[in-house]
Amino acid sequence: MTHSGTPYSRRDFTRVLALGSAALLPPGPFAMPTALPATPRDPGEAFWLAVRGQFLMPPDLGVMNAANLCPSPAPVLDAVYRATRDMDGDPSFENRARLSDAKEATRRAVAEFLRVTPEEIVLTRNTSEANNMVSSGLDLRAGDEVIVLADNHPSNLAAWTQKAARFGYTVITLPQPNPHPGGEHYVEAVRRAITPRTKVLAFTHHTSTVGDVLPARELCRLAREHGVLTMVDGAVTFGLVDLDLADMQPDFFSGSAHKWPCGPKEVGVLYAHAGVHGRLHPTIVSAYAGAIGLSRTHESFGQRDEPAIIGFGEALAFQNRIGRKAIEDRSRALAAAAIEGLRKLDGVQMWTHPDPARSAAVVSFRPGTLDIARLTAALYRNDRIGCAPRGGSDRPGIRFSPHLYNTMAEVDRAVGAIARYLRQGV
Ligand SMILES: Cc1ncc(COP(=O)(O)O)c(C=O)c1O
Repeated sequence: MTHSGTPYSRRDFTRVLALGSAALLPPGPFAMPTALPATPRDPGEAFWLAVRGQFLMPPDLGVMNAANLCPSPAPVLDAVYRATRDMDGDPSFENRARLSDAKEATRRAVAEFLRVTPEEIVLTRNTSEANNMVSSGLDLRAGDEVIVLADNHPSNLAAWTQKAARFGYTVITLPQPNPHPGGEHYVEAVRRAITPRTKVLAFTHHTSTVGDVLPARELCRLAREHGVLTMVDGAVTFGLVDLDLADMQPDFFSGSAHKWPCGPKEVGVLYAHAGVHGRLHPTIVSAYAGAIGLSRTHESFGQRDEPAIIGFGEALAFQNRIGRKAIEDRSRALAAAAIEGLRKLDGVQMWTHPDPARSAAVVSFRPGTLDIARLTAALYRNDRIGCAPRGGSDRPGIRFSPHLYNTMAEVDRAVGAIARYLRQGV
């Protein structure tokens, strides 16, 4: 039964879940009155407004914080709602077995999305867990070296140093200068840092701090040539950049459903290349493993939120319907417009490089001498713009990270508001 009491057959439901889509089910409470139109060849603002219409955010609210957390569109909310209703309406083992089948459908969808095989996919709870499965799961000991990049997230930075203190290996931290010095700088810096003792290179594909894009393919190739494993944190590219891991060839890659894919909260992914499965020990051992490949040994995390995992599959289907290149182009266009507008303002110091080869859709800047906490609060209160404050002494300021649900009008409003506060103060 659905929320409205409409019956649907078990067979339909099983078929739908096996397909990894809730398309055949009657609409739930989040269904939007207007369906998503087909993506035009050259999608303009009207199309993106229709995309925005699939999200619950009211038209006057412009939240540009995708690098932190994204909202889910209606089809994802609906899929989660309906699967939750099904599970809670019949929590028997018999009924929940069908949800496990749906989990495998999501695994296939994630693999297709990343252009790899389902045997190489573990459905984690987030990027943090995926990153830590790697730093905890590899055999590293005294004498070994791990190269990390200074701007990595704590789950790919502090995690390594903490485990190094326990197991006796050494962490070499390479600086990430500002402004972004170009991809070749990083290839050369890593080339110089690799020694016969280097076992792992761990970096972030697109940093959440100032949006630096690293040359992932070239770094993975360099590491491979030296027998070094690569751990690529993709939290800020998965669901934003039209990724092809078969081309990038990392050994490990991580991401979260609740960021750029606009999926449910607390679902994530660890990709591990088939050739390295034998080198990764499982670090969490419990019940309810996955059915194939690495998931059989590395995904037994105990009871999961299967409806959220089903929603993850629906989120990827939503992106596929729009077109992944169109989404990447759109997010980049919004960020480029923000950079262009902000660079014209006296007093603004941009931390993000405007070159599209060095940045994507994260825009960080210092707004003169304005107090960051007060400015962020004023933007939300007066201008209905949500963004991330960056405190501390390391490139402090404001971060805008726009995505497919944002509009050019929101970018203009945000830039206009920054200009006004620079003139008037906050
Ligand atoms: C680059 C990067 N890695 C990892 C994470 C952690 O993601 P999660 O909180 O989903 O585990 C984040 C979160 O902002 C991030 O920006």
